[in-house]
Amino acid sequence: MINLAGLELKNPIMTASGTAGYGRELANLVDLDSLGAFVVKGTSLEPWVGNPPIRVAETASGMLNSIGLQNPGVGHFISYDLPFLRQFSVPVIVNIVGRSVDEYALLAKRLKDMEGIAALEVNVSCPNVKEGGLSFGQDPLLVKEVTEAVRENWDKPLIVKLSPNVTNIVEIGRAAKEGGADVLSLINTLRGMAIDTNSGRPVLAQGIGGLSGPAIKPVALRMVFELASELDIPLIGMGGIQSYRDVLEFMMAGASAVAIGTAVLRTPGMLIELVRELEYWRLSNGVAWEDIIGLTVRGEYGEFR
Ligand SMILES: Cc1cc2nc3c(=O)[nH]c(=O)nc-3n(C[C@H](O)[C@H](O)[C@H](O)COP(=O)(O)O)c2cc1C
Repeated sequence: MINLAGLELKNPIMTASGTAGYGRELANLVDLDSLGAFVVKGTSLEPWVGNPPIRVAETASGMLNSIGLQNPGVGHFISYDLPFLRQFSVPVIVNIVGRSVDEYALLAKRLKDMEGIAALEVNVSCPNVKEGGLSFGQDPLLVKEVTEAVRENWDKPLIVKLSPNVTNIVEIGRAAKEGGADVLSLINTLRGMAIDTNSGRPVLAQGIGGLSGPAIKPVALRMVFELASELDIPLIGMGGIQSYRDVLEFMMAGASAVAIGTAVLRTPGMLIELVRELEYWRLSNGVAWEDIIGLTVRGEYGEFR
């Protein structure tokens, strides 16, 4: 068992928000109950249509997306998706997104008394309409404000998902902690672009999108390591995980659990393989996860196989 501020996971593997929808498609391919947790797509107060196509592009070692957080809204989630997810015993984490502090607070309030939600994950990588479009996640004061607003309306574990598009991730992480976050998750996508050289046009209709996949793993790992070194708060690591060795790196850097997105889009069954391979590694090395989490930060190097 892994304990994330009261959120109990039977293993450290979870889905990354936005890459497995609300679970219906993945459930045909993977036994959701074998995962540590299922994280739903970013959900807003009202339905969002998202950005126009083209919204995804392949790059050398990752993918770009500019989905624009398309989703059917929290009302639809409550009436249609939550009952489906309640059939499973896997902890369900609801990722929420808003365009103002009030929207985040209202989302938490709507979800508060709903059965079958283990935790909220607050995605702060969204433009703040009132502040002229600057992302909430880039300003420590706004991160604190959003976190406080959700905290006031939510009693269960509260995860704040950080944007990597900042100079000082520790400053942002600290602001989330001060605002009442129980857990931090990171990283969301890194801003990037691709250009079609036959026309000179950006490949994505929006021009700029979010980079995910193996290309971002070293950046994600560095940010997890920095937060684990500076702050006393459980972390969920993600960004480019493809193998159980990648998971181990994140855990040694300080993550108590991990989420996988882009690799699951390509090979959904890898989630189950990861769970098995990690357990095999742990048992054959005779260690507990508590010993592995943050090992590199503490400098307690071992001899593993
Ligand atoms: C197609 C796509 C959609 C995503 N949608 C969301 C989302 O709705 N909310 C969110 O917090 N993160 C979203 N993300 C970010 C992922 O949850 C994750 O943080 C990021 O992709 C890094 O992990 P990965 O390299 O394993 O994909 C999305 C990523 C992708 C590729």
